[in-house]
Amino acid sequence: MNILGIDTSCDDTSVAILKYCQISRKFHIKANIISSQVKAHGEYGGIVPEIASREHLKNIKTVFEMALEKAQVAESDIDLVAVTAGPGLLGSLIVGYSFAKGFTISKKIPLITVDHIKAHTAANFLSPFDINFPAIALTISGGHSSLSVLNSPIDAKFIGGTIDDAVGELFDKIARYLKFPYPGGPYIDKMSRAGSEKYKLPRPLINEPNYNFSFSGLKTAVINFTQKNPGYDVSDLAHSMTAAICSVFTKKIRNAADEYKARTIILSGGVASNSMIREAVTSLGEKLKVFVMIPEPVLCTDNGVMIAISGGLNYLYSPDKNLKNTDVYPTTRW
Ligand code: KG4
Ligand code: ZN
Repeated sequence: MNILGIDTSCDDTSVAILKYCQISRKFHIKANIISSQVKAHGEYGGIVPEIASREHLKNIKTVFEMALEKAQVAESDIDLVAVTAGPGLLGSLIVGYSFAKGFTISKKIPLITVDHIKAHTAANFLSPFDINFPAIALTISGGHSSLSVLNSPIDAKFIGGTIDDAVGELFDKIARYLKFPYPGGPYIDKMSRAGSEKYKLPRPLINEPNYNFSFSGLKTAVINFTQKNPGYDVSDLAHSMTAAICSVFTKKIRNAADEYKARTIILSGGVASNSMIREAVTSLGEKLKVFVMIPEPVLCTDNGVMIAISGGLNYLYSPDKNLKNTDVYPTTRW
């Protein structure tokens, strides 16, 4: 079965084509094309929604044709289309959705609408290893920081998330404050490698008996620290901030793994590319003797592959026939 996955939720126009093998029950990437809009938004220091939707409109057909070419697949070979329905920028989502809808109507094939956050987690189904359930999944991106429990490929229960800024927002806002280009997460990551935890920063909500996160106070604490200590070292600051984030994530994952008797810990989303966070969660897994799965960095940030997998899993595993051809927003939201 060939699955087309489309994501236009934010600032990347992403189209992928995957083959699902019924025998191995695994997904294989045939094409993964991502057209980044970083240049278009860079001078504004953040994403401009109107520019994003116009760029998607300009690029989507070309990106789709590049994916067909790369996969060596004809339009008539596509069996199923999965597209992000949300969350995301409305004008951007509409471009991908309309394209997918038009294509599926003309080809008379099913369209599955996908939740972008759940799809980030689904990127881990590319692993040659099977996911043992229950799994604790932390999805961390520019717009979300969500913790959930997975009981099957399509059964996810949200147990906590950020009550203010997403962790990617914290990385990007601090990077902008420190005058790094947009998006700043990767720059903070690079700086942190050369530093150490010289400054003690707060770990918001770390001891709260729930799975919520808060990163707005940490952002203020970092800014206040730089104003009171003008001679600070930027690498040590990047390292100290990321160490505070790692402490919060590992504590909440450990609590959730204990409570839900997790057999797997899953990390996903753009911020899961962060090297300190990857190391911290991997070493937590070693301590707890729980298998940790994290996609390679290119599959952490937004891509069409994860959308194709998420749609494919819903199509294959859902006992609900209505889910096999959806063109409405998914009912379960994270
Ligand atoms: O998942 P994603 O591509 O888009 C959203 O769904 O939001 O995540 C983008 C976010 C941005 O905030 C970016 O700065 C952050 O992921 N990011 C990183 C790293 N690479 C990307 N943050 C920290 N360290 C990184 N290496
Ligand atoms: Zn994302």
